[in-house]
Amino acid sequence: MRTIESSDKMKQIHSDIRGPIYRRALEMEQQGIPVLKLNTGNPGAFGFTMPDSVRKALLEGVDRAVAYCDPRGMPEARDALRAYHTNQGLQGVRIEDIFIGNGVSEMAQMVCTSLLSAGDELLMPMPSYSLWSNAAYLAGGKPVFYLCDEQADWAPDVRDMARKITPRTRAILLINPNNPTGQVYGPSLVEQVAALARERGLPIISDEIYDRLIMDHVPFRSTGALVPDLPVITLNGLSKSHVVCGFRCGWAVVTGPAALTAELKDCLMKLSALRLCGNALTQLVIPAAMKDTASTRAMLSPGGRIYEQREAAVRALDQLDCIRYVKPRAAFYIFPKIADRIRIRDDRRFALDLLERKHILLVPGSGFDWPDPDHFRLVLLPEPEETYRAILEIGDFLEHYRQ
Ligand SMILES: Cc1ncc(COP(=O)(O)O)c(C=O)c1O
Repeated sequence: MRTIESSDKMKQIHSDIRGPIYRRALEMEQQGIPVLKLNTGNPGAFGFTMPDSVRKALLEGVDRAVAYCDPRGMPEARDALRAYHTNQGLQGVRIEDIFIGNGVSEMAQMVCTSLLSAGDELLMPMPSYSLWSNAAYLAGGKPVFYLCDEQADWAPDVRDMARKITPRTRAILLINPNNPTGQVYGPSLVEQVAALARERGLPIISDEIYDRLIMDHVPFRSTGALVPDLPVITLNGLSKSHVVCGFRCGWAVVTGPAALTAELKDCLMKLSALRLCGNALTQLVIPAAMKDTASTRAMLSPGGRIYEQREAAVRALDQLDCIRYVKPRAAFYIFPKIADRIRIRDDRRFALDLLERKHILLVPGSGFDWPDPDHFRLVLLPEPEETYRAILEIGDFLEHYRQ
């Protein structure tokens, strides 16, 4: 019997969020060493609980989730999403334009499979949440990265984007608000990206899973609302806003001129049907969740956990000379830079050494396709005191660390 070899596609796949360094953390835990795991944006793992509205809807509706539902999702769930996105400014959304799946992760895969032929390119941000580069590879295409500029609060560099468009480019991806930088792109920036997309005849994919997790009253407009004349695929989900990552509940909404988007919607319908339907249990809660904006907002206002955790992180970082950062305005991530004088040459080695020495797990910047070994992502989900202490520990480690 020959050894089983992986496909060429798999050679490109990497997920450092749950990769070798994470596996070492699990080993340490099995040996009885407690590890502070700051690698995944998974609020339920840090004592956050789902809102009562969601629990109630799930328990009351459970019998309705027994059969396969419409491959695109339960009509009442899609109707609630139609109302939500219409309220966000998307024009002419019908429930036929909405596809519910097992998380944005599954929908990203379907979108990439629909759009990319072998060798096609998807233009995406750098740093980049690895879901999207992996989805592009699995679909037989490849990611091409445009720079987000740390000096400009991590805004996408539209000139870099323009330079990287080739005849193989099939779409431009925006992640707004962004993971891992926690930044929100304002309407004028999104309009600049849209002008480029319009000029080059490209659709925009807008991953807006963090649109309900914005702090400091920073203005946000959904991309599809700003550019109704362009094909836009908007992705969103309940994992973060309603603390139900494990439910696997996300969706895609296709807007723009019907003649330009009909084929894409056919593809999404076919792919939805191939896996029969998304998890119906999670769809039961969508109408109640979309009405319950208060529980999410409470986490993001002064006194709320996500807000206070970010503030604690910033207070700790302000004491450190070895780390620079741009203050996040949304979600629960930060993507700081390690000072050049520390001279990190291999950021995976740094993350592993930190884990062994301080028992803190983070994700090195290279896990987000960042080209230099000088950044890392921290998940700001532990209680404020713990977040504060962990960052000071990282600072202490760096001050004594040389590679
Ligand atoms: C930008 C972004 N998109 C999508 C996802 C995946 O979400 P889901 O749980 O809906 O698959 C995440 C999860 O961290 C994310 O950060």
